[in-house]
Amino acid sequence: MQNPATVPSSSAHWQQTDRLATIGSLTAGIAHELNNPIGYILSNLTSFALYLPVFMQYFDILQALAHCEDPQQKTALRQQLAALQQQENLQFLLQDTQSLLNDSVQGALRVRDLVLDLRRFSHPDHAEFQRLELGPLLEMALRLSKNELKNHITTECLLEPATIWLQGQPAALTQVLVNLLLNAAQAIGPDNGQIRLTAVQADGWLELCIADSGPGIPADILPQIFTPFFTTKAPGKGTGLGLPICQSIVQQHGGTISVGSSTFGGAAFILRLPAETTTGSNDSHPV
Ligand SMILES: Nc1ncnc2c1ncn2[C@@H]1O[C@H](COP(=O)(O)OP(=O)(O)O)[C@@H](O)[C@H]1O
Ligand SMILES: [Mg+2]
Repeated sequence: MQNPATVPSSSAHWQQTDRLATIGSLTAGIAHELNNPIGYILSNLTSFALYLPVFMQYFDILQALAHCEDPQQKTALRQQLAALQQQENLQFLLQDTQSLLNDSVQGALRVRDLVLDLRRFSHPDHAEFQRLELGPLLEMALRLSKNELKNHITTECLLEPATIWLQGQPAALTQVLVNLLLNAAQAIGPDNGQIRLTAVQADGWLELCIADSGPGIPADILPQIFTPFFTTKAPGKGTGLGLPICQSIVQQHGGTISVGSSTFGGAAFILRLPAETTTGSNDSHPV
């Protein structure tokens, strides 16, 4: 454990260290998230490659039929079509092709989104302050943390109003959100649990609360949780940099971070950030 009590706000180095540690802890989950769709896309394409010669054969017979003048040959070609249809169960192959392709497109979109999220998380462009919408930022952080939340943690997101804008650095803010989500997931542990993200915008501020159903933070360690390198986790599990970095990033955005108890009995982290109230979206960037 070390002093100083806060991470210097200019400390890009610590932010980078924490980001690498976060990416490190997400790697196995992200690899799984990529591997799963890639697995079924490959298997779907392999099935499609088996179906294709049948479709081609059917198409060839159809073409021959279209150009055929001889009635006897026509009858023979029609019989071939009927035989092929029955033999290969063409109806099934067509329906299956449709669902193979639909699933593959969905899988490829998942891969694309995850790769985009990772690039956004690490790309220098995303260090620029820009006009951002909160909802997509939360969705991106949830996608990146998805595997750590597994199936035993349910998440819900309640935004009031549904569209909230702010000025910020997308990668840094995503880092804050992912850190808080991972802390919540680690606090909940292997048992079923809940994480609720609620955001309200009022009087030029946006207040985002991340509440979990974990055991909460004992009063005696509460004063220390924003101290760099303070961790209650086993060596290799926690760096103790997550919360101080969150605090530093939030302060760079002109906001504050505080902690309280959630209605589920666990911890609730509350971020207050200046909301962007100007209208017009010319300078806005999709997250
Ligand atoms: N949601 C939470 N529930 C319970 N304890 C928490 C929660 N978030 C943070 N903590 C406590 O704060 C400590 C510091 O968190 P952090 O700075 O993110 O470091 P790390 O996660 O590496 O331990 C954690 O070790 C844990 O004891
Ligand atoms: Mg942490």
